[in-house]
Amino acid sequence: MRPVILALGAGTHLAVKISRITGYDLVPVEARRFPDGETYIRIGGDVEGRDAVLVQTMHPQPNERLIEYLFTAVTAKELGARRVIGVVPYFPYARQDSRFSEGEAVSSNIVARLVEWSGTDALVTVDLHLHRYREPGELFSVPVTNLSAGDLLGEYLKRELGLDGTTVVGPDEESRQWAERVARVLGSRFVVLTKERRGAEDVEVSRVELGEDRAVIVDDIISTGATVAETVRVLRESGVREVYVACTHSLLVSAAEYRLLSVGVADLVTTDTVPNPYARVSVAPLIAEALKGMAGGA
Ligand code: R5P
Repeated sequence: MRPVILALGAGTHLAVKISRITGYDLVPVEARRFPDGETYIRIGGDVEGRDAVLVQTMHPQPNERLIEYLFTAVTAKELGARRVIGVVPYFPYARQDSRFSEGEAVSSNIVARLVEWSGTDALVTVDLHLHRYREPGELFSVPVTNLSAGDLLGEYLKRELGLDGTTVVGPDEESRQWAERVARVLGSRFVVLTKERRGAEDVEVSRVELGEDRAVIVDDIISTGATVAETVRVLRESGVREVYVACTHSLLVSAAEYRLLSVGVADLVTTDTVPNPYARVSVAPLIAEALKGMAGGA
């Protein structure tokens, strides 16, 4: 039997695109709140004997999205789904991968355990924030396909904005992996800066002299925009006139958009791993391709 795609909450926009590409049936999942804030989930179609591809993206409101995901995965299995393949393009809590201060929860581990506990048999994600864990296999015991949007972003920057040959700047060591990938597509060099985070919305980025007129900053996540805004500021101070920004997961919380506008970003290119107004690159074809080799029937 052909797999079905379960379209859940924040992942619905992607579920629809993936269904169009793969031809897999789309089953809507009703997710709503009871008056007291508890979560109600209902799978609106038949999953028995089929691989259920559960598409959910964990932003905005990651805690709500996570509960929706867990309830749906467990329910799909209870209703006889052969396997649950979680498609979680933006995987939350990955940055809390250590006990930075005494007593803190190492949330990335806890969330990984919960997803496994829910009966998820395999996971597909995009640009998982790997830092202290170098490989998804160090965090998960189920198979994880960690796709990268780097090539798609690079191709877009080249094709639509003519940025081939433009120096790529990664704001911090973690961003090296994404900066390197985009630079390869642009056929340009990449430079990785160092970042010190002093608070949730307060970062300091090392100075650099590129000796060039334009640059493109590449990172995995824009959350408050503090990292990118500070990097733009540093580059502009050193004489770079046009600073472009590309990232995979555009969360844009707090005053992120204001921050980016006020430092004069030339353009912002993101993907649709989370719904956001700057998404010009869709990761749906990438995910659909990955699913081809995974999802199947009895
Ligand atoms: C952290 O290392 C990530 O790669 C991003 O740089 C970070 O999450 C961006 O957060 P913000 O936009 O709040 O500075």
